[in-house]
Amino acid sequence: MTHDQQAAPLIDTSVPHSARMYDYWLGGSSNFAADRSLGKAFEEAIPSIRTMALENRRFLGRAVRYMAAEAGIRQFLDIGTGVPGAGDTHSVTEIAAPDSRVVCVDNDPIVQAHTKALMENQASGRTIYLASDMREPHQLLAEPALTSHLDLDQPVGLLLVAVLMLVKDEQDPWAGVGVLLDALPPGSHVAITHPSQDFNPQAMAEIVEAAERGQMTLVPRDREQVQRFFGDWELIEPGVVPVMGWHPQDGPPSDPNAAYYWSGVARKRS
Ligand SMILES: C[S@@+](CC[C@H](N)C(=O)[O-])C[C@H]1O[C@@H](n2cnc3c(N)ncnc32)[C@H](O)[C@@H]1O
Repeated sequence: MTHDQQAAPLIDTSVPHSARMYDYWLGGSSNFAADRSLGKAFEEAIPSIRTMALENRRFLGRAVRYMAAEAGIRQFLDIGTGVPGAGDTHSVTEIAAPDSRVVCVDNDPIVQAHTKALMENQASGRTIYLASDMREPHQLLAEPALTSHLDLDQPVGLLLVAVLMLVKDEQDPWAGVGVLLDALPPGSHVAITHPSQDFNPQAMAEIVEAAERGQMTLVPRDREQVQRFFGDWELIEPGVVPVMGWHPQDGPPSDPNAAYYWSGVARKRS
């Protein structure tokens, strides 16, 4: 899928899309035949893919709660937010920090449609949705809706959860993330998850092939490549670790490598 096609305002349900496949694995209903078909192909290569999607979502919750409780963060910028649903940034902050403001960014029209409905039903107006593309970070940061909702002189919790694998190397996602990190003040935090071939190279190769057949970009990255996204920010202990092993809530998981994502949270130094 080309950049132009992804940015198009029309919903093309004949082409599988990451947001809707993820929604399918999480048990949602905002998905179509093409999404389910490629979602099942991924599942054949990685039978635990639904658990992986769920574990990724759980990490998002733990990271947001950490930022709110430990760092006092009250504004969140969630890029690649996905179809709204249980355990998303809006609902986690509703409980963990209801006085916080949230900007959800996504470039998928179906996410846009769902989030518009969410906003219309939201009395507080503390969460807004922005149709924008992380591959254009300067444009994203200059969006009037973003700059009027968030105070970029105060710490921000930036979420790049299960989204960077959708940007090709040649589009230099490290440079794009660098622009975002540079724009945020000290005390800001960033949370990242990223699927990797490090855990099960053969299964990951199979889903990359399936993604190519479905015209979808999917770039797994190794631990060193994922760690580079954090730049010179200070990694919160335990650093870049398997997603199930980052601050697990119910004690150490029996097999932290069962979900093939690297994850981490880092803080911008003063
Ligand atoms: C797998 S979902 C992740 C959802 C959520 N972050 C989570 O982890 O629960 C990836 C999301 O990133 C969005 N996305 C993909 N490329 C993007 C881009 N270039 N800019 C903004 N969002 C993008 C997709 O539309 C999709 O909703």
